[in-house]
This record gives sequence, C-alpha cells and structure tokens, in this order.
Amino acid sequence: MVNLLATKPLKLILDEAHETGEHSLKRALGVNNLIALGIGAIIGTGIFVLAGTATANFAGPAIILSFVLAATGCVFAGLCYAEFASAIPVAGSAYTYGYASLGEIFAWIIGWDLVLEYAFGAATVASGWSGYLLSLLGDFGVKLPASLAGTRWDEFIFYNKHWEPANLLMPKVQSGEIDISGLPHQFGAFNLFGFLAIMIATLILVVGIKESANFNTAIVYIKVCVLIVFVAVGGYYLLKHPELTAVNWHPFMPPNTGVSGQYGWSGVSRGAAVIFFAYIGFDAVSTAAQEAKNPSRDMPIGILGSLVICTILYILVVGVLCGLVNYKFLNVRDALAVGIDKTGVGWGSLMVKIGALMGLSSTIVVMLLGQSRVFFSMSRDGLLPGVFSAVHPKFRTPWISTLMVGSCVALLAASLPINLLGDMVNIGTLLAFVIVCAGVWIIRRRNPNLERPFRTPMVPFVPIMGILISGYLMANLPLATWIRLVVWLVIGMAIYFGYGRKHSRVQRAAV
Ligand code: ALA
Repeated sequence: MVNLLATKPLKLILDEAHETGEHSLKRALGVNNLIALGIGAIIGTGIFVLAGTATANFAGPAIILSFVLAATGCVFAGLCYAEFASAIPVAGSAYTYGYASLGEIFAWIIGWDLVLEYAFGAATVASGWSGYLLSLLGDFGVKLPASLAGTRWDEFIFYNKHWEPANLLMPKVQSGEIDISGLPHQFGAFNLFGFLAIMIATLILVVGIKESANFNTAIVYIKVCVLIVFVAVGGYYLLKHPELTAVNWHPFMPPNTGVSGQYGWSGVSRGAAVIFFAYIGFDAVSTAAQEAKNPSRDMPIGILGSLVICTILYILVVGVLCGLVNYKFLNVRDALAVGIDKTGVGWGSLMVKIGALMGLSSTIVVMLLGQSRVFFSMSRDGLLPGVFSAVHPKFRTPWISTLMVGSCVALLAASLPINLLGDMVNIGTLLAFVIVCAGVWIIRRRNPNLERPFRTPMVPFVPIMGILISGYLMANLPLATWIRLVVWLVIGMAIYFGYGRKHSRVQRAAV
C-alpha cells in the first residue's frame, strides 16, 4: 500500500546533503555569492518590463502601493523559506521542505509547481530580454521581420517603413497623432531572441556552477548600478522640475474604469499580483543550499538580504518612473529606457538597455539553475527518471537535465507572450509560498527539536500572514490563469501516479 503522505526522513535528507565526492555538487558559494545569486534572480523583467505595463494597465502611479503589498507578502514567505533553508540546507528548495514536512504527494505538487516558477520564469525573462534587444537594435536601424520578433499573440503594424509592435503605437493612436486603420497588420510567429537567450544560458550552466556564479556576480553589480543611476538621474531631473511630478503623479490612484482590476484599489491589488513577479527569485537562493559553503548561517542572510535590497530599489525606481512619464504611456517593452529618455540625458537610454540586457541574462541563468536543481532532487528521490540527476564527470553539473530543460524553456519563450507566461509564474510561485508557509508551521509542531539555525519569528503569525497575502495575490490573477494552473497540476498528478509513486525511494524503503 503506497502512503501518499510518506515523509522523507530528515536524517536521510541531511546525510545526502553532507555527501561529497564525484556525484555530488560542488560547495563553492559564500555569502556574497548567495546574495548576488538572490539579486541576480530577483532584478529582471519584473522591474524592467512588467512594472511599466502594470502601471499603464492596472494601477497608475499607485503601483508603488502594489510593490509594497507584494513585498510584504514576500517578507513573510521569505522568513519561512529562510527557516527551511537553514534547517534543511539541500538542493531542491520548497520541494525538499515539502517532502520533509507534508509528505510525498505534496512534495510532488510543489516540485511540479516549481516548474512554473523556474522554467516558465526563465521563459518570461527571456521574453523581456528579447523586447529590450529589439528596442536597442531598433535604435541602430536594425529591425527583425515581424514573424521573428514576437509570438503569434503579438501584433505588429507596418508603420514608418518597418513593423512596429502594435502596443507601442497605441498612445499615438489614442492621441489622434496617427491613424492605423489603413496600415498592414501582422502577427508574430517565433520569438527568435527569446529562444536564443535561453539556449545560451543553458550552455553556460552546463559548463559549471562556479563559472556561472562568477558571471552572475559581475552582472549583478551592473544591473544594480543601472537602477541606481536611473534613480539618481531621474530623481535629480524631477527635483529640478517638480511640476512634472505634480502632473504625472496626479491622480496618484486613477479612478476605477468600471472593470475590476483596472485602476482604483482593485487595480492596486491586480498590479501587485502582476509585479509580484519582480520579487520572485529570493527563494532561488535556497535551491543552491547544497552548493553553499556554510548554509546554516549564510542561507537566511542570502534570502532576506537580497529581498530587502531589491524592495528598496524597486520602490525608488517606480516612484521616479511614474514622475518622469505619465502612466498612460508606460505600456511599452522598455519602460525604464523610455523613462530616462525624458531627462534628455543622451546616454541614459543606451545605458538602461545594455544594463537590462546584461541584467536579465543573469536572471535567466539563475532561474534555469533552480529548475535543473529541483529536477535533480526529484530524480534522486526516484520521482523522476535517473537522467535528471546524471552529473557530468568533468563539469560536475546535472548536464542532461539542464540541456533538456533548456530546450523546452527556449521553445516556451519563443512561442508564448510575456503576460501569459508571467501570470503562470506568479500563480505557481504563490502556491509554492502558501505550501512552504504552511510547512514551517506544521514541521514546528511535528518536529520541535529539529535544529534550526534560523528560526522564523512569531510562528504561527508569520506563516499565516504569508499564506493570506499569497492567497490574496493569487485571487487577483485572471480566471484563465487559474484554469491553466489546474490543468498543469492534473498533468503533474498523471505523471506522479504513472511514474513517481512506483519508483519513489522513500516508498520502497518503507515496504
Ligand atoms: N524577479 C525576476 C524578474 O523580475 C523573476 O525577472
């Protein structure tokens, strides 16, 4: 009889973590690497792209409140992740925590759900990356054919002798500046740059974690600098032109249009559910626990440190952005470049675009890294076939898993639009947060003597708040996203009952 709620003994999990030798992962990451890994995963498409579109479509300048709301939920969840990551410092993140606390079926659900976070997340960021690259090349007069510049959901209009994304022309259409009714329209087919971004990141990961971490650390500095320069240049300009802020920040919260989620308080909530994407990634630090030199001390610092730094930066960035550009004009693929352009600083837009391209690359790498590590753990437990944990003898990376995941993610990035991908990532990640918060509370009761180098404060208040805020953000995502989540989980269940349950090492040890 298979016990769906079988838990994986903590001793076994920790023994596996202490394993060394050819078939284990290298312990190469120190605290700075971990904070850099966190920031590397966190700062990405969320702030560079989605902050603009969510401001224009849902919240207006009140997007600042959306950022505060989403950050609050993340702090509660982050405190729960930190306890788990310090007590169970092994690769696999929430999946492993679920296995230790809630039982195999929940572990499977989380592991499967994390594919939405990491694999779909990497695809979303690659899609944002592609938008910035297209915009940069466009500045130099290089334009891709519409069929290679977007997915089949992205509409292009032939204007000024080339194909322009339709949403970029909308402000001009609305202000009556141009009439597009007679112009040729076409939809994209394959987002070529999104595809290439993922394939290059995959190859970097196959070569090795240490190299990837150094690459990541260098790029993290660059993207943090770009955001700081944006705030400094934009903020200085706004101080000199206070009338601009007064106009653009007014109304701070545009009235509701009659559609729920479009401005007003419901828009703030919807905006928070969308830009929640901007915070995803701090939990990716926990997937690298097995590669950390001193996980008990460094994991909580890595998770919470990266979260706090990014929250402060984000609030400053969106505050300045909404001062520089009226919210109605932010439905673009390169919002921060459009923002800095308003200051008249000639090099600003180029710096933002190049910084975004470099910055988003590191986010893609970290997301893909997280994904292959989760599959690595699931495969070691017998829930997925052995190829997912095959380690390359020289590079010591789970190379087959990385290559397979990378190819699938590249196809996702090439064929699905950024908003659809982003909403799937958000709902999947929020569900994982709910389960992790519940798990901390449960394991405190079931296993009070477990050594916890970092303890989540105020349990159960903190886990309950994490569950409530994450649940609230999920409730603000569209119905279609919920339906896709259910379909995704049903497919996952079919794989679990068809394969995982029969091959599970925990189940076999129990009989
Ligand atoms: N937080 C990451 C981003 O915004 C996933 O791209």
